[in-house]
Amino acid sequence: MVSEKFPRGSWTPEMVEKGGYPHFMLKEIHEQPKALKNALSLRPEVCQQASRILNDSDQVYITGAGTSNHAGLAGRYMFTKLSAIKTQNLVSSEFTELTGKLLDESNVVLAISQSGETSETINAVKHAKRQGAKVVSLTNVLESTISKLSDYTIYTYAGPEYGLAATKTFLVQVACLSLLSLDLSLMRGSLGSSEVGKLRRELMKTPLIVDKTVKRQDRVVRDIAYQYANKSSFLFLGRGISTSTAMEGALKLKETAYVHAEAYPAGESRHGSIAIIEPGFPVIIIAPPDENYEKLIKNLKEIKAYQAKIISVV
Ligand code: BG6
Repeated sequence: MVSEKFPRGSWTPEMVEKGGYPHFMLKEIHEQPKALKNALSLRPEVCQQASRILNDSDQVYITGAGTSNHAGLAGRYMFTKLSAIKTQNLVSSEFTELTGKLLDESNVVLAISQSGETSETINAVKHAKRQGAKVVSLTNVLESTISKLSDYTIYTYAGPEYGLAATKTFLVQVACLSLLSLDLSLMRGSLGSSEVGKLRRELMKTPLIVDKTVKRQDRVVRDIAYQYANKSSFLFLGRGISTSTAMEGALKLKETAYVHAEAYPAGESRHGSIAIIEPGFPVIIIAPPDENYEKLIKNLKEIKAYQAKIISVV
């Protein structure tokens, strides 16, 4: 079963052209508010049906590769913390090794893939099916191999993504996982209806916030890029769910600028890795005002003592 709004056959020539941008990736970054709005208008029954399948399981495994794996990590934080459901997230290339014969019909595998065609994720899905687990997929491409193999598919409504490095599709994957997490939280009683309602309203404001951020920060980001263009290595840090943003940031830098970048939870930095920090080393910190903020600032102070250059996303 597949939810349908913008199936691949309905994509117009305008949707696939660069629309005045020098390359697809930039165009797709600017398409994020619209993509996010579409994703958040997912039919409630689609999300509820997927949530019911997840809720009926003893254990959820989220799997994917690259960016989709990072969205899965964000999903794991939400499912565990908000929805109180046992969740693991495993990179799809290691999925079979890490689950072996431990999967059964009491498990649900949530497979995330923009294209629905990534071979490692297809193999993870096939392995899960062989072991009797149910498969729910989150993909951007209707009729893709992964959606055909799945028991249920959520389509992310992002429109075509041609840039090699995923941008808008990461955002909509996380948005759909947020919707799923809210439904699951209600079903499981881990959050009350007023709290879910409040979070949902906040979530619905995000397309506007993303729009403002993309428009306002374009120039700031470009200036920072020029300033640090000669650096050969970067560190990305976050705590809690922002760890997934940090990991995605490092992947983006590697994929697009061919510059070495590493990411891990900020609390890990003091356990060895801090040794590589020398004066001027660029460290990008993802620092939203959440419950991890104070701890993050403590980590940041330790790094600053090594005279790192801190770029903060606040
Ligand atoms: C990789 C790309 O080959 O596939 C990544 O370089 C991408 O950018 C990954 O995130 C997974 O792709 P998909 O389509 O399964 O989400």
